[in-house]
Amino acid sequence: MSDNHREHGSEERKPLKKEMSRRQFLSYTLGGASAFMAAGVTIPMLRFAVDPILQPKAETDFVKVIEENKITNEPKSFTFQIHQVDGWYESDPEVSAWIARGDDGKVFALSPVCKHLGCTINWNTDPAASQQYFCPCHGAHYSKDGKNLNVAPAPLDEYTVKIENGFVYLGGLTKNTRL
Ligand code: FES
Repeated sequence: MSDNHREHGSEERKPLKKEMSRRQFLSYTLGGASAFMAAGVTIPMLRFAVDPILQPKAETDFVKVIEENKITNEPKSFTFQIHQVDGWYESDPEVSAWIARGDDGKVFALSPVCKHLGCTINWNTDPAASQQYFCPCHGAHYSKDGKNLNVAPAPLDEYTVKIENGFVYLGGLTKNTRL
């Protein structure tokens, strides 16, 4: 092989390696470290804010309300406290229920909240319509079972009821199951 030829061969360029400059290295390192630190701060904050929403809802607790033998066929209003957890806010509001025995003798409980616009209903307070729930706001009537007879678009909601050791316990509200 001639010298000429060898010289020509040594001039062949190897493929260029992309080399990182010192400036690039520093900017990547600093950028990565900053992102890591920002994530370290942001992720716990996001978890703190969102965590209650992601937690599975606890089973509705039953609240002891009244002795079963105090319940008659005539609906009566009883108040009781419930424990509410709304995100990070906990409260113990007082709520009420109309509790009575049905024709089958079983205890049931209705929500006092009118399904029209949310006023509070009462039992048997309209002289023109006895033995009915009546809403004073716009004149809605409901049967003893909570059936909407006029004005309101839906029956009264019903509490879940549990009888235990002679006491009536109420749980969460559901759609009316008596109709
Ligand atoms: S809110 Fe009860 S009738 Fe309107």
